Amino acid sequence: PWRPQFHATPPDTWMNDPNGMVVFEGEYHLFYQNNPYGNRWGHMSWAHAVSRDLVHWEHLPLALAEENGVMIFSGSAVVDWKNTTGFGRDGRPPMVAIYTGHHTGRPLQNQHIAYSTDRGRTWTKFAGNPVLDIGEADFRDPKVFWHEGTGRWVMAVAWPPKRMVRFYGSPDLKVWTHLSDFGPAGSTEGIWECPDLVPVTVEGRRSAAPWVLVVNVGSGAPAGGSGTQYFVGDFDGTRFTTRTPATGTQPGALWADFGRDFYAAVTWSDVPPRDGRRLWIGWMSNWTYANEVPTQPWRSAMTVPRSLTLRETPAGLRLVQQPVRELQTLRGRREHLGRSPGTRAARWLQARQIPNGLAELDITWDRVPGSGKLVLRAVHGFTGTTEISADLDAGELRLDRTRSGRSEFSPHFAGVHRAPIRLTDGRLRLQILADVSSLEVFAQDGETVLTDLVLPESPGLRWELEAHGDANKASVASISLWPLAAAMPRIGLDTP
Ligand code: FRU
Repeated sequence: PWRPQFHATPPDTWMNDPNGMVVFEGEYHLFYQNNPYGNRWGHMSWAHAVSRDLVHWEHLPLALAEENGVMIFSGSAVVDWKNTTGFGRDGRPPMVAIYTGHHTGRPLQNQHIAYSTDRGRTWTKFAGNPVLDIGEADFRDPKVFWHEGTGRWVMAVAWPPKRMVRFYGSPDLKVWTHLSDFGPAGSTEGIWECPDLVPVTVEGRRSAAPWVLVVNVGSGAPAGGSGTQYFVGDFDGTRFTTRTPATGTQPGALWADFGRDFYAAVTWSDVPPRDGRRLWIGWMSNWTYANEVPTQPWRSAMTVPRSLTLRETPAGLRLVQQPVRELQTLRGRREHLGRSPGTRAARWLQARQIPNGLAELDITWDRVPGSGKLVLRAVHGFTGTTEISADLDAGELRLDRTRSGRSEFSPHFAGVHRAPIRLTDGRLRLQILADVSSLEVFAQDGETVLTDLVLPESPGLRWELEAHGDANKASVASISLWPLAAAMPRIGLDTP
């Protein structure tokens, strides 16, 4: 009953990190860490799904399987347009996957490549593997891109216990030379995994895009457990330098998402220039309980794909995320309420039932006072509620899932997750995507994001606005509510 209806999930096994995201011949590829034999972590391999619209995913056969004592850990994929590898056939560029070989018999991780000349349907592991080996037990998650300026491939790869990202360069994806290292910096409590280095454009600016270094950390994220931090800076083809003050403490770190269920996020490679977006997706779980979430036979989902930009704020450049516009194709008929006093808006919203639990809510308050608390509640079926509130005194957005539904499977699941929010001109906007078992909250046009799983005991959804207290006298400038259609065939029963 908790199978998400517009998020990618594995049909009947385990999923963790998204891997090898690349666009080729009109298809978005999504590989992911998968155990082909069960719904707990193990036997890591790359499972494969493709989509033409980032909304509807088609499952394809396993792409890269564990073999000869080597598991296929996380990594990336590129289109080798110039056929630098020589793996291309009949003038068509090959797709090349760059992944970590995790050796099960000895403490060793090194980097491997594999290629496909049939649009990713079948893969051949390179006979010369590994292509990069420094003899380390923890050295993983290569993310590769073509660097135009230096005319070579660049790899960002994590050295987890050292809290470092190493950069390597290559003419052909087969021979790699060390370029530079970054870190420790920002959040260093947890090990560093799944890095990504990408230029991201600044909203409203035409000048060269700054570089964002994404570093996923195994623990120490704001909501607890694993999470995604980033640095904004410059990359000269050899070295990344950050403009983010590197204080070495958590308050100095920048976080992509303040919920507990956003990890291992990395971007799509080879998005066509005419599209121009920077797109990424994250794994919607947390290592503190991922193996215990009570779903079966499948376990774990991805977030919705999101587009990335940077925004100038008084504190500096900040990452901004928006759900990809393609998701709007799932929208049913919009219900809309114009400017209204809080009490009326509360009555209007409460009357709207969403039987299948799938909804998009876009609500804006304006003339929000500088103090008090604005409260919005997702009411799940008959039994659970998730409270999303803005504490205006603390400048904080909160998501409280302590009463949402099931949580007994882990002491780390129930909780209140907090994110800083910046009120601009007394205006607060929340865009919320509700699937059967998740809430993704995009506040202030994507400047602050909170992603959390919820496991309601009964199906259905409606929203409540609290309409007492000073803050709740604030008028609602507008509400739009869309029922959403399922993007996947429903699997399983309708009620728990
Ligand atoms: C991150 C991670 C990666 C690793 C993979 C193994 O969640 O630990 O560092 O490659 O998962 O499944």
